[in-house]
Amino acid sequence: MIKIKALTKSTSENNIVLIIDPKGFKKSDALSTEQNTAVKNAIKAETKKIFFNNGSFHTLVIFSEGAVTWKVAELLRKSGAKVCAILNENKSVSVNVLADDTKAALAMAEGIALANYQFLKHKADKKKLSHTLSEINLTNSKITKKEIADLNIIIGATYITRDLVNEPFSHLNAVQLSEEFKKIGKEAGFNVEVWNEAKIEAQKMGGLLAVNKGSKVPPTFNIMEYKPKNAINKKPYVLVGKGVVYDTGGLSLKPTPMSMDYMKCDMAGSAVVAGTMYAVAKAELPIHVIGLVPATDNWIGENSYAPGDVITMYSGATVEVMNTDAEGRIVLADALHYAKKLNPELVCDFATLTGAAVRAIGPYASAILGTADDEIKQDIFDSSYAVFERLVEFPLWDEYADELKSEVADFTNLGKGEGGQISAAKFLEKFTDYPWLHFDIAGPAFNHAQDAYKPKGGTGVGVRLMFDFFSKKAKK
Ligand code: BES
Ligand code: ZN
Ligand code: ZN
Repeated sequence: MIKIKALTKSTSENNIVLIIDPKGFKKSDALSTEQNTAVKNAIKAETKKIFFNNGSFHTLVIFSEGAVTWKVAELLRKSGAKVCAILNENKSVSVNVLADDTKAALAMAEGIALANYQFLKHKADKKKLSHTLSEINLTNSKITKKEIADLNIIIGATYITRDLVNEPFSHLNAVQLSEEFKKIGKEAGFNVEVWNEAKIEAQKMGGLLAVNKGSKVPPTFNIMEYKPKNAINKKPYVLVGKGVVYDTGGLSLKPTPMSMDYMKCDMAGSAVVAGTMYAVAKAELPIHVIGLVPATDNWIGENSYAPGDVITMYSGATVEVMNTDAEGRIVLADALHYAKKLNPELVCDFATLTGAAVRAIGPYASAILGTADDEIKQDIFDSSYAVFERLVEFPLWDEYADELKSEVADFTNLGKGEGGQISAAKFLEKFTDYPWLHFDIAGPAFNHAQDAYKPKGGTGVGVRLMFDFFSKKAKK
């Protein structure tokens, strides 16, 4: 893990990232006379950056004009990804980030740190492949200890989330996922209760059990709780995550290329829940949060549930299963029904739920739908800009629920192909009776190519968003 620290004085005996405002730039003490002249010339030539090689160290000067708005912060995170690549290419270990604006320095550090992530667990020559960069020093004395601590926490939480998503099913089945949650809970200081198959059967969680029928591994239902004594909320915030550790599609089998081949990512929602719980607990936010994860793979076996089956959900509702690949909504429904018991302030669920969400908006944003009031939605959108995790809201129109009508059961699990992210949400809505937001993260949760500071594979999308949301709640 990369470490971000405060440094009282920058020395020339290290790599430097210097962020300057080209407007009104006179000189920087971090640069030599020749370098200051070169920077001024670069400003005249309207360049955006200029790099100096000081023998064994590098000085990278990044130009950032005006106030650090959310857009500028994102540009700085993206430059951070480029800086990270240059430093690692040069086998650098440490870098000092210099900026007069604290927000600029923090965004740059965040970009570098998020970009420095690697998943090398299954590589033989880890040492050779491993990035050299391991330390970011922030020299601006206006940056608070808390800001630095929080940044380290959110980087750690994002790494944890990405690791969980990147771990293949061969090494992370439902039971193993629960073990990981326990480890994370122990490290961060929150409680983890795991229901085994017998308990899930006794509780009659019929949705989770139906999806699990074809599996060789039992399901688990995971309840994580962080309840600090100084919690400012009487009713808990509840996070629900889809924990489908692998999705073959079941008997409604998926094709392999660009489909089943990356379905280890289908527990990304559960990783958002664990990553957010980690961050909230580590930062000791005065917020009572409960995380719920129904976990199983969606396998094929002699006992698999089949298209046409009728199953009885935890809520007692019956569902005609028209497609076994629409399993995410089935397992989530049982968790959403459980959440009713918790008298929640708000329930947010995270799920790689539909290909329709990906077709609608690609990998650039999550689809969001829900019944929470406008004030909560505004807070979520504010956080989404702050961390640049974009959201597109879709409507919960009743016409989409009509698509779920069944002749034999209360409803089916399959809407029409068009607007499938909406009919999926309408299915989920039936199991809620509280303020609720559903995040369909199927697009942005898993990258097929690196995108600046978001690597190929698990991105951790959702965690920075929710940590920002809870941090702001804690301040109110
Ligand atoms: N896990 C998939 C959705 C998905 C698609 C996740 C792409 C990540 C990337 C989900 O379980 C699924 O298979 N959904 C089906 C639903 C359909 C059968 C109604 C889909 O979207 O095709
Ligand atoms: Zn599926
Ligand atoms: Zn799925």
